[in-house]
Amino acid sequence: METIPKIISAPAAAPATSNTARPVPPRPRQYDARLARWMVAPLVDTRVSPNHLTTLRLIVGLACAWAFAQGGYAMANLGAVLLVLSNFIDHTDGELARISGKTSRIGHLYDLASDALVTVLLFGGIGMGVAAVAPDQYPLPVPLSASALGWIAGIAVALIFFLRMRIEDRVGKAGTKQASVGGFETEDVLYLMPLVTLFDGTRGFLIAAAIGAPIFALLVIADYVRVMRRALPVEAGESAATAEAATAVEAVQPMAPAAFAADAEIERALDAIDFDAATREFKSQDAFIYLDKFLPKTVTEQLIAVVRSVTPNVNRNYLPGHKQGGSVSRHTLDELAPFVAELYRSPALMRFLERLAGEKLLPSPQDDPHAYALYYYTRPGDHIGWHYDTSYYKGRRYTLLLGVVDQSSCKLEYRLHTRNPGVAQVEGAVAYPPGALVFFDGDKLHHRITPLGENEERVSLTFEYVTDPRMGTWQRFISNMKDAIAYFGFRQVFRQILGRTKR
Ligand SMILES: [Fe+2]
Repeated sequence: METIPKIISAPAAAPATSNTARPVPPRPRQYDARLARWMVAPLVDTRVSPNHLTTLRLIVGLACAWAFAQGGYAMANLGAVLLVLSNFIDHTDGELARISGKTSRIGHLYDLASDALVTVLLFGGIGMGVAAVAPDQYPLPVPLSASALGWIAGIAVALIFFLRMRIEDRVGKAGTKQASVGGFETEDVLYLMPLVTLFDGTRGFLIAAAIGAPIFALLVIADYVRVMRRALPVEAGESAATAEAATAVEAVQPMAPAAFAADAEIERALDAIDFDAATREFKSQDAFIYLDKFLPKTVTEQLIAVVRSVTPNVNRNYLPGHKQGGSVSRHTLDELAPFVAELYRSPALMRFLERLAGEKLLPSPQDDPHAYALYYYTRPGDHIGWHYDTSYYKGRRYTLLLGVVDQSSCKLEYRLHTRNPGVAQVEGAVAYPPGALVFFDGDKLHHRITPLGENEERVSLTFEYVTDPRMGTWQRFISNMKDAIAYFGFRQVFRQILGRTKR
């Protein structure tokens, strides 16, 4: 079971020049994941998908639970061998997804459901197997049947995994970091199951699991409560003042060296900007400005490395007649490329944007997948039709677009003053190459991106800032559904509920 994701990726210094080579995700640290990657490597360019491997894992896992449930020495040993096999196969689907780029929302949910089902049935099966073998001869030290102990252990383990997913979502991988020694982790103890069954220790294992798993679950519950209290995100319904306080707390946290350097470079780049002229232009264009050179080269280069490293996590979307392209949400970036989040909160950047907007800006709430995201146009025809970046927040929402990769003929076409009665509409078109900036009030700028041509590639970064992070329940629902369908997929948008990112 890879219920606790084992691959922790940092933004690798991936080559930024090739736009055709498939990026190689960082090598896993665990031996079983490394072996799994080596074994599935020949499958990358075949019709075998990660879902096929998940199905194989599910079948082996169910067979394992069935074997244990039969009871008896031989079947317990068969069950233990199938358990090792099932655990190992569970690494293969994720590895194939990572190295082949065959990621999918459905695949990930399928994998999660398989993990949960196999876990609960495994322990339930062990309990049933122990109960089936002369229960009167070997009374248990507790007034419960062996089957009940099995289900208790299974449900407790499933609860542990679920809570750890939630903790990870809130504070990142560090919050659930497993004890890892020499490439082995806590869950790898299940690889020792054949030794347990070989020495006829299934009954003792069941009792230990039924006692230990609920105790461990209580500890994880306490951890969960502590983390949730400590790191509450800005939620809908909270006052703008509370949100501001939360932002202030974030602002005084130490920045990572790379982000600190990026902030200093942005500060220096701002020296070349005539603030008054920029602010006038922003106002005269009904809250829209384009700067062809903004991000310092070193910052852009780091973003290009991020783009290459998170490419396996792109979620492709098609809305016939309106939109086609790929996206990586803030949730995935938080996990794989924290530099983006730090850049998003760069004090120098935010000061500049606030000066343009003429008002206080706040980061979008923590559950907004759009807060910062990468948009990938990699296939001919990728585009988005005419639209506004409608704000569902109670206040205004500003969009910042930064060019990262642009080997394309795409243009951002826009119409100014469309909602400005009495002012003549103005039309324009700009390309935004690496380092260029576009900043606008999403509810005012009517815009689109023209389709990508053959053999072209374009990746841009978007940051969204709000003036009031509150959002009504209905607006939140609409916003989430729109993000799930049009951008990031249900998995990424609703991951606060569903848990970890394996693929
Ligand atoms: Fe847009």
